[in-house]
Amino acid sequence: MFRSVADGFAKLLEAIEPNPKEVDARASHRRSIEQALDTSFANFNRLAVIGSHTRETAIRGYSDVDYLAVLGKADVMHGGKVVQSSTVLANVRRALGSRFKSTEIRNDGPSVVVNFKGGEGAVDVVPGYWSGTTGQDGYPVFAIPDGVGGWLLTSPQRHSKYLVEEGAASRYKLKGTIRLLKAWKYARTPSVPLLSFHLELLLASAGTCKGIKTYGACLLDAFRLLRDRGGSALNDPLGISGRIPIVYTAHQAEALVKHAAHAAFHADAALSAEQSGLIDEAFRQWRIVFNGWFPSRR
Ligand SMILES: Nc1ncnc2c1ncn2[C@@H]1O[C@H](COP(=O)(O)OP(=O)(O)OP(=O)(O)O)[C@@H](O)[C@H]1O
Ligand SMILES: [Mg+2]
Repeated sequence: MFRSVADGFAKLLEAIEPNPKEVDARASHRRSIEQALDTSFANFNRLAVIGSHTRETAIRGYSDVDYLAVLGKADVMHGGKVVQSSTVLANVRRALGSRFKSTEIRNDGPSVVVNFKGGEGAVDVVPGYWSGTTGQDGYPVFAIPDGVGGWLLTSPQRHSKYLVEEGAASRYKLKGTIRLLKAWKYARTPSVPLLSFHLELLLASAGTCKGIKTYGACLLDAFRLLRDRGGSALNDPLGISGRIPIVYTAHQAEALVKHAAHAAFHADAALSAEQSGLIDEAFRQWRIVFNGWFPSRR
């Protein structure tokens, strides 16, 4: 039996901790992905790990491993101009397809997904090229596909630095809250439409987890924020990437708002129950929010 709601959150966080074996298995393909890209792109530079696994905001079984494939400028130029990102994605897909013949490979928005068999899961390869550095601090900025044929600018290292700093200011509750929100997302079929990168920047820039707060209080504020923003995009707080979408369609925005309103209602009920000492009821309400992923009290 759990004594407190905090113990329930600790248990859920432990259950969604990425499994090191799963991550290692995917990382083991790194060398062969590099070889495939090296063969097809004359100026291929390197494969850099980016995404939630570099920031401890990944969750078990659901967070992909993201690689930024840094191509040379000449690899993305034709007739003196940078080609459409969709053309580069098609080339990357072909390069990986000829190396991993029996593995499912597909395009998904800005990346090529290699779906390794045997429970190793998906590896996302995002092609990009160096496009400059951030103002004063000189972090590399890359152009990556924007998902609709063009390119957008991003600086994974600079964004990570920002998220780490904001995480420290929130007494490290930010990372846990992000992972819990990913659990909320995937606890439903179909999952709640919601892009992770937006979520991290949103909570960091809104200061949702700042101060002395329980996970429950952070989540309630996050659900209210998601509900009230109506699925709108976020201006990159660092001004590097422009508008960062949370969903791709109006239909997805509507679904997100509905799910967030439902979650805010039950999170509110859970916090009230906890304050009144009704711990069984608080667990029951969190189990509604997390669709059964939150542990039973007894
Ligand atoms: N709209 C965007 N603008 C700029 N950079 C982006 C954008 N979307 C994704 N990225 C970069 O690509 C990385 C990988 O994105 P992805 O969608 O896999 O999210 P994630 O943070 O890895 O979360 P998840 O755990 O869901 O995989 C991000 O961490 C970020 O560096
Ligand atoms: Mg990822």
